[in-house]
Amino acid sequence: MLARDKNKPLLDETATVDEAITSRRSVRAFLPDAVPESMIREILDVSSWAPSGTNMQPWRVYVTSGETRERVSRAILDSGLRAEHARGEYKYYPDKFFEPYYARRRAVGYALYGHLGIGKRDVDQMRAQHDRNFVFFDAPVGMIFTIDRRLNQGSWVDYGMFLQNIMIAARARGLHTCPQAAFAPYHQQIRPVLGITDDEIVVCGMALGYEDASKPENRLRTERAPVDDWAVFSR
Ligand SMILES: Cc1cc2nc3c(=O)[nH]c(=O)nc-3n(C[C@H](O)[C@H](O)[C@H](O)COP(=O)(O)O)c2cc1C
Repeated sequence: MLARDKNKPLLDETATVDEAITSRRSVRAFLPDAVPESMIREILDVSSWAPSGTNMQPWRVYVTSGETRERVSRAILDSGLRAEHARGEYKYYPDKFFEPYYARRRAVGYALYGHLGIGKRDVDQMRAQHDRNFVFFDAPVGMIFTIDRRLNQGSWVDYGMFLQNIMIAARARGLHTCPQAAFAPYHQQIRPVLGITDDEIVVCGMALGYEDASKPENRLRTERAPVDDWAVFSR
């Protein structure tokens, strides 16, 4: 029998990995079904195999469920601090949007509100939907990610790979996620609940659980620009 060429993936493996990547989407309504702690540990363990410059592994994760998850939600929602006045410790978005990013941002916003039947001027309903972030869209597990503030941009690059691994490992187990930068501006509210030190910056949160497929917000499917729009092949 010919030995299998190790550089040539089995079709099965390609399909499985590609499916895990492309079936990941941001889910914004979850079922209450619990995720066993052993599964969460497994997801985090496998995700920690993300590469990082000089293997620094710059991540720290606060995994919350039950009462603690609710205390995080309450600390934010009861603070009375509206998103437009809350300040994160890093800038996720540009100060002023420009093309092609502005159009993409608007498209996803309108599509989400469209599924929810929220009109373009219905600010109260938009706020209510934004606040759904803070209950982790009812997911049974809410994670808060932090990074040591002395670390540099390179470590933030590493961090993204770690976060993506979590979302893909979750898919492999039938789970869904939503990464949530919405938590970053509320770091002062979250810190005392989780014991996050002043040495750490809150990077983002993430909801983890089983999708509630009956909810309209989960009908949202985003698009991607074709490869030739952003890849340059030089021969
Ligand atoms: C780091 C990060 C933070 C995000 N923060 C939020 C958030 O706070 N709330 C939210 O509803 N979606 C959030 N998203 C989801 C994006 O809106 C979503 O990834 C994008 O629209 C593409 O859609 P998809 O994830 O379904 O492919 C975030 C995504 C990333 C990568």
